[in-house]
Amino acid sequence: MKIGFYGASKAGISLAFYFKDHGLEITGFYNRTYEKAIKAASMTKTRVFENPEDLLEASDVIFIAISDTFIEEVSKNLYSLHLSQKVIGHLSGALTSDAIRTECRGKFSLHPIQTLRGQPEDVQFLKEAMFSLEGDEEGKKAAKIILQKIGNKYIELKKEDKVVYHLAATVASNYLIALLNFSYLLYKKIGLADEVIFSIIKPLSFASLENFLKDRLNCLTGPAARGDVLTLQKHYNALPNEKKPAFLELLMLAADLVLEKGDKNVYEKLQQFTNSVRW
Ligand SMILES: NC(=O)c1ccc[n+]([C@@H]2O[C@H](COP(=O)([O-])OP(=O)(O)OC[C@H]3O[C@@H](n4cnc5c(N)ncnc54)[C@H](OP(=O)(O)O)[C@@H]3O)[C@@H](O)[C@H]2O)c1
Repeated sequence: MKIGFYGASKAGISLAFYFKDHGLEITGFYNRTYEKAIKAASMTKTRVFENPEDLLEASDVIFIAISDTFIEEVSKNLYSLHLSQKVIGHLSGALTSDAIRTECRGKFSLHPIQTLRGQPEDVQFLKEAMFSLEGDEEGKKAAKIILQKIGNKYIELKKEDKVVYHLAATVASNYLIALLNFSYLLYKKIGLADEVIFSIIKPLSFASLENFLKDRLNCLTGPAARGDVLTLQKHYNALPNEKKPAFLELLMLAADLVLEKGDKNVYEKLQQFTNSVRW
């Protein structure tokens, strides 16, 4: 099976490295901006294609590895004499294989649940990553051959579940970073150096993550878990005004866990506190 990439994107390059490492045959890259295709092909020691038709001719499976917004448009304009024999997939977490708007042998969406930067080191991160798969019969058949080769675990998704599935992934990755940065900026405000801040954040957040994975219901500590309204009020007062609503929303997300654990008393304190400062 020959695999080609339409799009010298970060995800496309990382997967090309990863697939090659697992003995899959990669034809190469086509990209709208030609220079980037040259770079991707040279990094991954594959071919560069000057036009999509040549990429399609040379490949059995084509990943449209470009920004989600343009997958429909690009797939609609794909042309090959042998399109009916080609399987076409994309890497989007939120879109389904219906975004591939052309007649071909099979369609799939194969999403690596990992943050990828188009660097050889991504291969290490991909080893641990779970994938998700959705598509038609022929599309899934081809994607499963790839999955079997790389050996990663995967889940099969229904089309209607993809958006929520992807939203959950962004919470665990992108918004987790946003939260860590929120903490970073508060430390910065009191003049701590980056090195010191990272030395504080690293063990704290690693331990929190480990505790969450080990014992989700009992891992929450701190003023939210204790219903310590006096401390929460001090935190609230210390925040710049524009960050106060976010703080309250986060507190109520923590309160959901408190309630699930069965700590109704603490939950009510958190709710009362939130209502009292909101109104
Ligand atoms: N990066 C990740 O962490 C990650 C993880 C999982 C899945 N994905 C998925 O992988 C896909 C690529 O994402 P990415 O973040 O890796 O992308 P990226 O590095 O930002 O690259 C975007 C690519 O889209 C191309 N492109 C943009 N508009 C285009 C258009 N109108 N016509 C043709 N090509 C166009 C760009 O071409 P030019 O170079 O010419 O601008 C570039 O090759 C997306 O479906 C994304 O959801 C990404």
